[in-house]
Amino acid sequence: MSEQNDHKRAAAEKALELVRDGMLIGLGSGSTANYFTEGLGQLVKEGMKVRGVPTSRATANLAAANGIPIVTELIGQIDLTVDGADEVDQALNLVKGRGGALFREKLVAAASKRFIVVIDESKVVKKLGVGVLPVEVSGFLWRTTAHRLASVATSLTVRGGEEAPYITDNGNLILDLTLAEGIDNAPALAAELKAMVGVVEHGLFIGMTDTCIVAGPDGPLVVGRQSGAAASL
Ligand code: 5RP
Repeated sequence: MSEQNDHKRAAAEKALELVRDGMLIGLGSGSTANYFTEGLGQLVKEGMKVRGVPTSRATANLAAANGIPIVTELIGQIDLTVDGADEVDQALNLVKGRGGALFREKLVAAASKRFIVVIDESKVVKKLGVGVLPVEVSGFLWRTTAHRLASVATSLTVRGGEEAPYITDNGNLILDLTLAEGIDNAPALAAELKAMVGVVEHGLFIGMTDTCIVAGPDGPLVVGRQSGAAASL
Protein backbone atom coordinates (compact mmCIF):
# COMPACT_ATOMS: atom_id res chain seq x y z
CA MET A 1 0.00 0.00 0.00
CA SER A 2 1.33 3.50 -0.79
CA GLU A 3 2.24 5.92 1.96
CA GLN A 4 -0.65 8.16 0.89
CA ASN A 5 -3.10 5.29 1.29
CA ASP A 6 -1.64 4.58 4.74
CA HIS A 7 -2.42 8.18 5.67
CA LYS A 8 -5.95 7.97 4.26
CA ARG A 9 -6.57 4.86 6.30
CA ALA A 10 -5.10 6.44 9.46
CA ALA A 11 -7.43 9.45 9.13
CA ALA A 12 -10.45 7.21 8.58
CA GLU A 13 -9.56 4.97 11.53
CA LYS A 14 -9.26 8.02 13.80
CA ALA A 15 -12.79 9.03 12.76
CA LEU A 16 -14.07 5.59 13.78
CA GLU A 17 -13.30 6.59 17.40
CA LEU A 18 -16.25 9.03 17.17
CA VAL A 19 -18.78 6.29 16.42
CA ARG A 20 -21.21 5.32 19.17
CA ASP A 21 -23.84 2.60 19.42
CA GLY A 22 -27.20 3.59 17.91
CA MET A 23 -25.85 6.34 15.67
CA LEU A 24 -27.14 7.19 12.21
CA ILE A 25 -23.98 7.80 10.19
CA GLY A 26 -23.46 9.54 6.85
CA LEU A 27 -21.09 7.52 4.70
CA GLY A 28 -18.90 9.52 2.33
CA SER A 29 -17.55 8.52 -1.08
CA GLY A 30 -14.03 8.02 -2.35
CA SER A 31 -11.03 6.00 -1.26
CA THR A 32 -10.56 7.66 2.17
CA ALA A 33 -14.24 7.43 3.08
CA ASN A 34 -14.20 3.80 1.94
CA TYR A 35 -11.68 2.98 4.67
CA PHE A 36 -14.14 4.44 7.17
CA THR A 37 -17.05 2.40 5.77
CA GLU A 38 -15.01 -0.79 5.87
CA GLY A 39 -13.95 -0.06 9.45
CA LEU A 40 -17.55 0.64 10.40
CA GLY A 41 -18.50 -2.70 8.88
CA GLN A 42 -16.00 -4.33 11.20
CA LEU A 43 -17.60 -2.60 14.20
CA VAL A 44 -21.02 -3.85 13.04
CA LYS A 45 -19.65 -7.39 12.80
CA GLU A 46 -18.44 -6.99 16.39
CA GLY A 47 -22.00 -6.13 17.48
CA MET A 48 -22.30 -2.36 17.20
CA LYS A 49 -25.77 -1.18 16.12
CA VAL A 50 -25.51 1.66 13.63
CA ARG A 51 -27.20 2.57 10.34
CA GLY A 52 -25.65 4.37 7.38
CA VAL A 53 -26.81 7.02 4.92
CA PRO A 54 -24.69 6.52 1.77
CA THR A 55 -23.61 9.44 -0.41
CA SER A 56 -23.39 7.40 -3.62
CA ARG A 57 -24.47 4.11 -5.15
CA ALA A 58 -20.88 2.88 -4.86
CA THR A 59 -20.87 3.61 -1.12
CA ALA A 60 -24.30 1.98 -0.72
CA ASN A 61 -22.90 -1.17 -2.33
CA LEU A 62 -19.79 -1.08 -0.13
CA ALA A 63 -21.90 -0.56 3.01
CA ALA A 64 -24.19 -3.46 2.09
CA ALA A 65 -21.18 -5.69 1.40
CA ASN A 66 -19.89 -4.80 4.88
CA GLY A 67 -23.20 -5.56 6.61
CA ILE A 68 -24.14 -1.96 7.42
CA PRO A 69 -27.92 -1.35 7.38
CA ILE A 70 -28.77 1.45 4.91
CA VAL A 71 -31.20 4.35 5.30
CA THR A 72 -32.13 6.48 2.27
CA GLU A 73 -35.10 8.43 3.65
CA LEU A 74 -34.46 10.74 6.53
CA ILE A 75 -36.61 12.06 9.35
CA GLY A 76 -34.53 14.20 11.67
CA GLN A 77 -30.77 14.50 11.49
CA ILE A 78 -27.78 12.28 10.84
CA ASP A 79 -25.60 12.04 13.97
CA LEU A 80 -22.25 12.06 12.22
CA THR A 81 -21.01 12.12 8.63
CA VAL A 82 -17.48 11.15 7.63
CA ASP A 83 -16.31 12.03 4.13
CA GLY A 84 -13.14 12.78 2.21
CA ALA A 85 -12.23 15.91 0.27
CA ASP A 86 -10.10 16.97 -2.67
CA GLU A 87 -8.88 20.25 -1.16
CA VAL A 88 -9.13 21.72 2.36
CA ASP A 89 -8.13 25.30 3.26
CA GLN A 90 -7.36 26.86 6.64
CA ALA A 91 -11.01 27.81 7.22
CA LEU A 92 -11.87 24.12 6.63
CA ASN A 93 -13.71 25.06 3.44
CA LEU A 94 -13.54 22.30 0.85
CA VAL A 95 -13.48 21.38 -2.78
CA LYS A 96 -15.23 18.04 -3.28
CA GLY A 97 -16.62 16.05 -6.15
CA ARG A 98 -13.67 14.74 -8.08
CA GLY A 99 -15.25 11.35 -7.40
CA GLY A 100 -18.52 12.64 -8.87
CA ALA A 101 -20.70 12.33 -5.76
CA LEU A 102 -20.77 15.97 -4.65
CA PHE A 103 -24.56 16.51 -4.78
CA ARG A 104 -25.49 13.66 -2.44
CA GLU A 105 -22.39 14.35 -0.36
CA LYS A 106 -23.59 17.90 0.23
CA LEU A 107 -27.16 16.78 0.99
CA VAL A 108 -25.87 14.31 3.57
CA ALA A 109 -23.39 16.78 5.10
CA ALA A 110 -26.12 19.44 5.38
CA ALA A 111 -28.38 16.96 7.18
CA SER A 112 -25.72 16.08 9.76
CA LYS A 113 -25.17 17.24 13.31
CA ARG A 114 -21.41 16.80 12.77
CA PHE A 115 -19.51 16.72 9.48
CA ILE A 116 -16.07 15.15 9.80
CA VAL A 117 -13.61 15.40 6.91
CA VAL A 118 -10.88 12.77 6.62
CA ILE A 119 -7.88 13.47 4.40
CA ASP A 120 -4.23 12.73 3.86
CA GLU A 121 -1.96 15.76 4.12
CA SER A 122 -1.71 16.21 0.32
CA LYS A 123 -5.25 17.68 0.36
CA VAL A 124 -4.31 20.72 2.46
CA VAL A 125 -4.04 23.90 0.36
CA LYS A 126 -3.40 27.57 1.07
CA LYS A 127 -6.07 28.60 -1.41
CA LEU A 128 -8.86 26.46 -2.90
CA GLY A 129 -8.88 25.91 -6.66
CA VAL A 130 -5.48 24.27 -7.06
CA GLY A 131 -7.16 21.53 -9.10
CA VAL A 132 -10.51 21.51 -10.90
CA LEU A 133 -13.74 22.61 -9.28
CA PRO A 134 -16.48 20.08 -10.16
CA VAL A 135 -19.99 21.42 -10.87
CA GLU A 136 -22.97 19.12 -11.40
CA VAL A 137 -25.31 20.44 -14.10
CA SER A 138 -28.50 19.29 -15.75
CA GLY A 139 -27.84 17.54 -19.06
CA PHE A 140 -30.77 19.46 -20.58
CA LEU A 141 -29.39 22.51 -22.46
CA TRP A 142 -26.08 21.93 -20.69
CA ARG A 143 -24.18 24.10 -23.19
CA THR A 144 -26.13 27.16 -22.03
CA THR A 145 -25.15 26.33 -18.44
CA ALA A 146 -21.54 25.82 -19.54
CA HIS A 147 -21.66 29.25 -21.18
CA ARG A 148 -22.75 30.82 -17.86
CA LEU A 149 -20.06 28.94 -15.97
CA ALA A 150 -17.42 30.06 -18.44
CA SER A 151 -17.84 33.58 -17.03
CA VAL A 152 -16.23 32.50 -13.73
CA ALA A 153 -13.71 29.93 -15.02
CA THR A 154 -10.52 30.04 -17.04
CA SER A 155 -11.67 26.91 -18.86
CA LEU A 156 -13.99 23.98 -18.34
CA THR A 157 -14.41 20.42 -19.58
CA VAL A 158 -17.23 17.91 -19.63
CA ARG A 159 -16.15 15.04 -17.40
CA GLY A 160 -15.68 11.94 -19.53
CA GLY A 161 -15.80 14.00 -22.74
CA GLU A 162 -18.77 15.07 -24.84
CA GLU A 163 -18.98 11.73 -26.68
CA ALA A 164 -19.43 9.59 -23.58
CA PRO A 165 -19.92 11.94 -20.63
CA TYR A 166 -19.75 10.77 -17.04
CA ILE A 167 -23.31 10.56 -15.68
CA THR A 168 -23.83 11.11 -11.95
CA ASP A 169 -26.02 8.96 -9.70
CA ASN A 170 -28.64 11.69 -10.21
CA GLY A 171 -28.56 11.48 -14.03
CA ASN A 172 -26.66 14.74 -14.49
CA LEU A 173 -23.33 15.84 -16.00
CA ILE A 174 -20.22 17.12 -14.26
CA LEU A 175 -18.40 20.15 -15.65
CA ASP A 176 -14.87 20.49 -14.27
CA LEU A 177 -13.87 24.15 -13.95
CA THR A 178 -10.28 25.33 -13.99
CA LEU A 179 -9.54 28.64 -12.26
CA ALA A 180 -5.99 29.53 -13.19
CA GLU A 181 -5.42 31.90 -10.26
CA GLY A 182 -7.21 29.69 -7.74
CA ILE A 183 -10.29 30.84 -5.81
CA ASP A 184 -9.82 34.19 -4.02
CA ASN A 185 -13.24 34.36 -2.39
CA ALA A 186 -14.71 30.87 -2.06
CA PRO A 187 -17.96 31.90 -0.25
CA ALA A 188 -18.73 34.49 -2.96
CA LEU A 189 -18.01 32.03 -5.77
CA ALA A 190 -20.16 29.40 -4.05
CA ALA A 191 -23.08 31.83 -3.91
CA GLU A 192 -22.58 32.84 -7.54
CA LEU A 193 -22.51 29.23 -8.74
CA LYS A 194 -25.56 28.31 -6.68
CA ALA A 195 -27.54 31.13 -8.32
CA MET A 196 -26.77 30.00 -11.90
CA VAL A 197 -29.64 28.43 -13.85
CA GLY A 198 -28.76 24.85 -14.81
CA VAL A 199 -26.36 24.30 -11.93
CA VAL A 200 -27.62 21.43 -9.76
CA GLU A 201 -24.82 21.70 -7.18
CA HIS A 202 -21.18 22.68 -6.98
CA GLY A 203 -18.20 21.21 -5.19
CA LEU A 204 -17.48 24.09 -2.79
CA PHE A 205 -18.42 23.15 0.78
CA ILE A 206 -18.34 26.42 2.72
CA GLY A 207 -18.65 26.53 6.51
CA MET A 208 -19.87 22.93 6.70
CA THR A 209 -16.87 21.13 8.22
CA ASP A 210 -16.89 20.71 11.99
CA THR A 211 -13.69 18.71 12.26
CA CYS A 212 -10.94 17.75 9.84
CA ILE A 213 -8.72 14.75 10.51
CA VAL A 214 -5.56 15.11 8.45
CA ALA A 215 -3.01 12.32 8.46
CA GLY A 216 0.66 12.47 7.50
CA PRO A 217 3.88 10.76 8.59
CA ASP A 218 3.34 11.91 12.21
CA GLY A 219 -0.10 10.28 12.42
CA PRO A 220 -3.57 11.83 12.41
CA LEU A 221 -4.07 15.41 13.54
CA VAL A 222 -7.56 16.49 14.60
CA VAL A 223 -8.41 20.07 13.64
CA GLY A 224 -11.67 21.62 14.86
CA ARG A 225 -13.30 24.64 13.23
CA GLN A 226 -14.71 25.82 16.57
CA SER A 227 -11.37 25.65 18.34
CA GLY A 228 -9.82 27.97 15.81
CA ALA A 229 -7.07 25.42 15.39
CA ALA A 230 -7.64 25.40 11.65
CA ALA A 231 -4.80 27.86 11.36
CA SER A 232 -2.43 25.02 12.14
CA LEU A 233 -3.28 23.30 8.87
C1 5RP B 1 -16.15 12.33 -4.16
C2 5RP B 1 -15.37 13.16 -3.23
C3 5RP B 1 -14.25 12.51 -2.49
O1 5RP B 1 -14.48 12.64 -1.13
C4 5RP B 1 -12.97 13.18 -2.87
O2 5RP B 1 -12.82 13.08 -4.27
C5 5RP B 1 -11.76 12.55 -2.16
O3 5RP B 1 -11.54 11.26 -2.64
P1 5RP B 1 -10.35 10.36 -2.12
O4 5RP B 1 -10.60 10.08 -0.67
O5 5RP B 1 -10.43 9.12 -2.99
O6 5RP B 1 -9.07 11.11 -2.34
O7 5RP B 1 -15.60 14.34 -3.05
O8 5RP B 1 -17.14 13.07 -4.82
